[in-house]
Amino acid sequence: QTKIWNVDSVVGNSQDYPQLTEAAEFLRKGEVVAFPTETVYGLGANALSSEAVQKIFAAKGRPSDNPLIVHIADIAQLEALVAEIPEIAKKLMDAFWPGPLTMIFPKKEGIAPEVTAGLDSVGIRMPSHPVALSLIRQAGLPIAAPSANRSGRPSPTTAAHVEEDLLGKIAGIVDGGPTGVGVESTVLDVTVNPPMILRPGGLTKEQLESVIGQVAVDPGLLEEKERPKAPGMKYQHYAPKGEMWMVVAPTVDKQVEAIGSLLAEAKSAGKKVGILATEESSTKYPQADLVVPCGSRADLPSVAHHLYDALRTFDQERMDYILSESFPSDGVGMAIMNRLMKACGHRIVGSDPSRNLSN
Ligand code: TXA
Ligand code: MG
Repeated sequence: QTKIWNVDSVVGNSQDYPQLTEAAEFLRKGEVVAFPTETVYGLGANALSSEAVQKIFAAKGRPSDNPLIVHIADIAQLEALVAEIPEIAKKLMDAFWPGPLTMIFPKKEGIAPEVTAGLDSVGIRMPSHPVALSLIRQAGLPIAAPSANRSGRPSPTTAAHVEEDLLGKIAGIVDGGPTGVGVESTVLDVTVNPPMILRPGGLTKEQLESVIGQVAVDPGLLEEKERPKAPGMKYQHYAPKGEMWMVVAPTVDKQVEAIGSLLAEAKSAGKKVGILATEESSTKYPQADLVVPCGSRADLPSVAHHLYDALRTFDQERMDYILSESFPSDGVGMAIMNRLMKACGHRIVGSDPSRNLSN
């Protein structure tokens, strides 16, 4: 039996929500509870309890070598969790917390070993969603929380997505409406110099660099041959059940044209074809069985916001072949392209995506 609590929140509100009293109690008793953050829904448990954290891995079907992010509501909680706070991290906290930035610190004893999957570092973030902050505050605990999806599925951006994957498997779900950013937090290792992005996310490389100067990107994210440094980045992820291909071309028009001819081919082979398009191009594929407009090309954050719901739609509508447009990889486009590459299992048509259109 999964309990559901509805909370209407107001962005920027720092009050505590009385509707969260019971969810906070569940967390203190060692149960797992899903809750909204500004990025995606998280599946939370007491980060100091092995027993509680093990329930997260069980509910998700998550490999035990993949560490979890610890969520805090207050800078004061940080000192009990980390052995050292690098100067550069302090600058980033001032600039971007609360917000979609996870930093990797050397860990202190006390965190359940399952949280860090045996590593001597720990990822920590302070989410900006008022419901997440209120829940953590009321629980009075650091909360370990991965995205609240079954392992391998797209991360949930609505409570309905969480229900699809985890209803009956977890103690409760806090429904705070759709999340804002739509892709996960940016994971940044601040123990190395220059700091290195291990997972591109809602906070862009450009934003980080505006505060601390040069930032590196894990080569494992760009080169298929290299092993990514964040354990979670090596897994197949976000993939719809149908065979998905990403189409890369030097201009938007050529991209639409290339998708059009692959679409015609697939249709004559009798396939049920879905297209991940944009508002600008969604009328250009009349032969497709399903066209999912995923935000506007002129507004990449809107693409991020709709991305995971779009990927889930292809499964709901049982598409067996999916063609996706591609995007410039600056700004939040870096996270969008990273997730699309994983969703299509690196099946790419066209030129090298690192030389993709920069319209
Ligand atoms: O936006 C988000 O970050 C969401 C919300 C719920 O906060 N959480 C999330 O967690 O995306 P999860 O578990 O789905 O992804 C965490 C990623 C994984 O790729 C994991 O391998 C990496 O962060 N990670 C966690 N701790 C790490 C560590 N100590 N060193 C390297 N990578 C780490
Ligand atoms: Mg995840």
